[in-house]
Amino acid sequence: MKSSYHPHIMEIIVRVVFVLTVVNFGFLNGQVYDVLKFGAKGDGTTNDSEAFVEAWKAMCSSGGSNKTLLIPSDNTFLLQPLVFQGPCNSPSVQVKLEGKIVAPLNKAAWSDFKSYEWVSFNKIIGLTVLGSGTINGRGSSFWEANMPASKRPTQLYFEGCNNLEINGIASLDSPRNHISIHNCTQVKITQIKLIAPGDSPNTDGIDISTSTDVEIYDTIVGTGDDCVALNSGSININITRMQCGPGHGISVGSLGKDGEESIVENVQVTNCTFNETNNGARIKTWPNGKGYARNIVFMDITLTETKNPIIIDQQYIDKGRIDVEESSAVAISNVTFTNFHGTSGQDEIIKIDCSEVTYCKDIVLDRINITTVDGNKPIVECSNAYGNSTNAYDGCLKTQ
Ligand SMILES: *[C@@H]1O[C@H](CO)[C@@H](O)[C@H](O)[C@H]1NC(C)=O
Ligand SMILES: *[C@@H]1O[C@H](CO)[C@@H](O)[C@H](O)[C@H]1NC(C)=O
Ligand SMILES: *[C@@H]1O[C@H](CO)[C@@H](O)[C@H](O)[C@H]1NC(C)=O
Ligand SMILES: *[C@@H]1O[C@H](CO)[C@@H](O)[C@H](O)[C@H]1NC(C)=O
Ligand SMILES: *[C@@H]1O[C@H](CO)[C@@H](O)[C@H](O)[C@H]1NC(C)=O
Ligand SMILES: *[C@@H]1O[C@H](CO)[C@@H](O)[C@H](O)[C@H]1NC(C)=O
Ligand SMILES: *[C@@H]1O[C@H](CO)[C@@H](O)[C@H](O)[C@H]1NC(C)=O
Ligand SMILES: *[C@@H]1O[C@H](CO)[C@@H](O)[C@H](O)[C@H]1NC(C)=O
Ligand SMILES: *[C@@H]1O[C@H](CO)[C@@H](O)[C@H](O)[C@H]1NC(C)=O
Repeated sequence: MKSSYHPHIMEIIVRVVFVLTVVNFGFLNGQVYDVLKFGAKGDGTTNDSEAFVEAWKAMCSSGGSNKTLLIPSDNTFLLQPLVFQGPCNSPSVQVKLEGKIVAPLNKAAWSDFKSYEWVSFNKIIGLTVLGSGTINGRGSSFWEANMPASKRPTQLYFEGCNNLEINGIASLDSPRNHISIHNCTQVKITQIKLIAPGDSPNTDGIDISTSTDVEIYDTIVGTGDDCVALNSGSININITRMQCGPGHGISVGSLGKDGEESIVENVQVTNCTFNETNNGARIKTWPNGKGYARNIVFMDITLTETKNPIIIDQQYIDKGRIDVEESSAVAISNVTFTNFHGTSGQDEIIKIDCSEVTYCKDIVLDRINITTVDGNKPIVECSNAYGNSTNAYDGCLKTQ
């Protein structure tokens, strides 16, 4: 029955060709790569870094779109420092964090506790990190050792990740700052929670540098340091509905350290609350820096016992530094503080302390209604600052 053989073989060939075509054209979109299937134990004590990297490599090297690396719930994964390296073949990849990720119990148990980053994402385009899981850096052994911040690891580090989204996750007790965004564009950070004790040192919430078009909204950040720090190269940044505190408020800078040229512009901070923070809306620049910070708006801000609710310090000097002669400063202009209400934890509610070399220009203080917790008359202080004020603090700013 030779004649019936041929159609059979043909059918097989047709099927194989069909399957290959389908694979090539990305029919396998939406595939899920579960770290447990790549050897992760998820028992909270085994080093699962290798399994995570293997799962990542499998996902990142496959074609098709909408690939998911799944970190499943009901498991606790211990990770040593690791890098999720891009670029990936898929134009959109997700890391779905549903379970828990923990760092080694203390810094002695890290394979390298001097790593600059703990979990690092590098050059991944179209990355979404989402889920209801948590990542806990167990940072207390770093804080207690008084290690300089620059020698401690950042919890989640994103570099060169355009079209980045971070949604839903919680980050606890980072050894250093919780999230760093560096050299990224089109970033959306929503509904995340960053938590560390109020007295943990140098544990910023979100640090941004050399990045454009960043939106942060509906977030809770209480880490003991800056809720957000906008460092050099932060351009087009919107922060909305952040509950900030305990910590140091939302800060532009510090900029211009060691004579560096720094630029920050087009920043809008709206509808945020500062609860028991050491600062509220803050801009700080070092003496002798270059560049500028401009087109910045802090609007609709609610304060609860905030110290330094409004502060610009153009002659910022970190503790332990000696005073220096100033020949330049990062220029500060077009900064608006509008509709602030609530209580200040100290009598001085506004401090705009600018350099006599560069001055601050076009500063607007509008509808500022801050009372002091102890009932004293609020104190305002402006030096070398020009601009407009539409309330009782007229005269603080010099008119131009
Ligand atoms: C991406 O894949 C995940 C997991 O398969 C799925 O839940 C989700 O709906 C997909 N999203 C899109 C936009 O296709
Ligand atoms: C954990 O696993 C990673 C990846 O295999 C490895 O580089 C690292 O040295 C391991 N760390 C420890 C402490 O075993
Ligand atoms: C910034 O990120 C982009 C996109 O990932 C990359 O191509 C570029 O080399 C990075 N630039 C620097 C200075 O690292
Ligand atoms: C920030 O908000 C302004 C005004 O609402 C809007 O024009 C701008 O596109 C927003 N920028 C980003 C990066 O979302
Ligand atoms: C401000 O944020 C609160 C919640 O944090 C929300 O209820 C309110 O609608 C927001 N207002 C505006 C104008 O966005
Ligand atoms: C501020 O924080 C304290 C504790 O840190 C909390 O008890 C209080 O309810 C918060 N207040 C507001 C207005 O969120
Ligand atoms: C001042 O900043 C605001 C907000 O970023 C911007 O809309 C406006 O165009 C700026 N004004 C000037 C003169 O640059
Ligand atoms: C300051 O007020 C003057 C006069 O009311 C107005 O012309 C000017 O545009 C205002 N400047 C700013 C920065 O709001
Ligand atoms: C300022 O705030 C206080 C306390 O919240 C309030 O009683 C008062 O009416 C406010 N004043 C203005 C001018 O909004």
